[in-house]
Amino acid sequence: MKILVIHGPNLNLLGKREPDIYGTFTLDDINGRITALARELGADVSFFQSNHEGELVQKIQDAMGVYQAIVINPGAYTHTSVALRDALSSTGIPAVETHISNVYKREEFRRHSYIAGVAAGQITGFGADSYLLALRAAVGIIKSGAEKKR
Ligand code: DQA
Repeated sequence: MKILVIHGPNLNLLGKREPDIYGTFTLDDINGRITALARELGADVSFFQSNHEGELVQKIQDAMGVYQAIVINPGAYTHTSVALRDALSSTGIPAVETHISNVYKREEFRRHSYIAGVAAGQITGFGADSYLLALRAAVGIIKSGAEKKR
């Protein structure tokens, strides 16, 4: 069970970035917690962070045939990027969209996601735990897919 975890722009600044909104944990802290849970769930996780839209698109394309699911926090590209949406829908790899903050409680422009319409689902507002919930969802999707093929 191979799962790719993608962190979009500015998430490399977690820990320093607007701690009142995003908390004081770092990206390494989150990745460590994901790795620990993945081990428990029997999943093999890889991580990728980029501040560049094209690099994120490329990584999603390169995930085809390698990963069975993607957990993605697209950061601000959630609200702007048709290219990321198209990359996800083109590969057909099931994706779980996740956000640290509750995007629906914040500015109006954060309420629209280009990603949600092509994602298997969205988890938003549970801090670092959003990623862990998203990982559980991704594992569930892979397992139910495997179940259907039997
Ligand atoms: C975010 C929410 C986005 O609106 C914002 O641009 C981010 C982080 C979150 O995890 O809460 O960069 O995706």
